[in-house]
Amino acid sequence: MDFKEQLRSQVDIVQTIGEYVKLKRTGASGRYVGLCPFHQEKTPSFSVNQDRQFFKCFGCGKGGDIFNFLMEIEAVTFFEALKMLAERNGIPLPRRSDHADAESKLRAALLEMHRIAAEMFQSALRSPQGAEARAYLEKRGVSQEMIETFGLGYAEPKGQALVRRLAQEPFSPEELEASRLIARRDDGSHYDFFRGRLMFPIHNESGKVIAFGGRALRDQDNPKYLNSPETPVYRKSSVLYNVHRAREAMRRSNRAILVEGYMDVIGVFAAGIKEVVAPCGTSFTPAQCRILHRLTDGHTVVVNFDPDNAGANAAEKAVQLLLDESLHVRVLALDGELDPDEFIKQRGAAAYVKSLEAAPTYFHWLADRARAKFDMRTSDGRVDAFKFLLPSVQKIGDKLERAAIANDLAGYLGVEQGMVLDQFKKAAAERRAPTPAAADPGPGIPALERMLIQALISSEAARIQTLPHLADEVIGNFAAREIFLALRNAHQSDPKATFSAIEARLSSSARDLLHHIASADESIDDVQAQEQARACLRRIESDFRKRRIDDLRARGKTAEREGRMEEALGIIAEIERLRRELGRAGT
Ligand code: CTP
Ligand code: MN
Repeated sequence: MDFKEQLRSQVDIVQTIGEYVKLKRTGASGRYVGLCPFHQEKTPSFSVNQDRQFFKCFGCGKGGDIFNFLMEIEAVTFFEALKMLAERNGIPLPRRSDHADAESKLRAALLEMHRIAAEMFQSALRSPQGAEARAYLEKRGVSQEMIETFGLGYAEPKGQALVRRLAQEPFSPEELEASRLIARRDDGSHYDFFRGRLMFPIHNESGKVIAFGGRALRDQDNPKYLNSPETPVYRKSSVLYNVHRAREAMRRSNRAILVEGYMDVIGVFAAGIKEVVAPCGTSFTPAQCRILHRLTDGHTVVVNFDPDNAGANAAEKAVQLLLDESLHVRVLALDGELDPDEFIKQRGAAAYVKSLEAAPTYFHWLADRARAKFDMRTSDGRVDAFKFLLPSVQKIGDKLERAAIANDLAGYLGVEQGMVLDQFKKAAAERRAPTPAAADPGPGIPALERMLIQALISSEAARIQTLPHLADEVIGNFAAREIFLALRNAHQSDPKATFSAIEARLSSSARDLLHHIASADESIDDVQAQEQARACLRRIESDFRKRRIDDLRARGKTAEREGRMEEALGIIAEIERLRRELGRAGT
């Protein structure tokens, strides 16, 4: 068994996927379902099969084994997925490190450099040269506990500390530059990218440092924040600051708080609300939206941006994205024009928690914006305000909730109920038909073949009894012939062949089909599988004989017409023999 197989047999796919997706057990043994993390949905079509260790989404079609899952969700290469899984489960990797391809090797080096840099920045903050940064944090009310929790640090101003530190490690000049932690002057000499700044490490979902934000300590220093550029381990559009610490709390509360800045995250977290994240110096993206959808299990996101105009506009955009992702959205606009960090500092954690719990759904916030935009004294103005809100209302998936909210809003804006109905009907008529689900890989495969495949993958006894009777000629006529050949070949080389050994012989389309068949049907026990295989085999053999008889008849006629009587008689005898066999088979 190679390491991949060994690992796969030691880890539980349900437990691993369960760290990303909330899974529910179904009636069938070893089957779990949940909301697909790879596409937007409200009812679960994502299924995980524990016995056979694969997952499959009937909505978007994604499927595969635990490695495919990790590669997709963590956006890593196969080798990285392998390593990740081994590390998480405390299983040592084989000594030889030829397991790494060039890309994973570079990424591993980048992660290691970021780990070293974070450690160095932290110790600089504790050292005498960190005095100014420590004073700054104290002034802003960041406790020692939060400094440690968030791994805050200090980058010394001269710009040589990290260059020297990394020179002690066996990194190549290319790797050093690719990290973007080290920059190069025209004369070829190197210096630290971050200098004289308060450092915020940014982590990926697995808790590895992948980038930094560096805040200036003095007002006159520009820019206020200097952030890591993108690298092979840092894609800004799909990273959320604090996501690895917020994950657990998001799962537990089915809620996320979205704020704008690093300092806001730390302030809210210190107030005891741990499910808080922020984009990292970019606008909020659909990829970040999907992460929140996945981690809150499609529940609630509270948007708590800065109260200034820029913050409100950014919030409006974020709200639309979140609604597109069918999340429940609330907007927290804090009293006194304060951002979350300032509010908590001035009014205390309890006051923040209270405002948070009372945060209204997004359309009350939107309605307030509409009231400020339109002239609410005229009925035209009120109707315009209502129309401005309508697209957001239409995004509410639940019909009853949608109607209730529309009525609510009409009341709030002073618009007639009849007008609400009209607008609704119009919008409903215009609404596009739902997008069709991904193509079902199953159609075109006769039920008989599906049932036989299901029986064969369920029972070794069924394979032993049935496979020898499936002649090449028979298999050659199957729509799913690739799967049958794989089953037979895997069985010939090892009767105890596992599901994954069968999968390994398949092209990706055939593998999809196999997953589809294996997950779509109810599971059957060994005795049922043998019975089902026998029944399928009887049908297949009789179908085969019937086809052969038809074929012979046609040839017999031709022979008769062309006067080859002896041949025609031979054919008739053969037909008779097949008929008798058919009769015996009881069809
Ligand atoms: N930001 C950035 N570059 C800047 C300004 C801001 O990348 N020049 C990003 C940072 O991620 C910052 C967020 O936008 O955390 C919000 O900006 P801002 O409200 O200005 O910063 P705060 O986090 O509130 O920081 P502070 O409270 O220290 O002003
Ligand atoms: Mn701020």
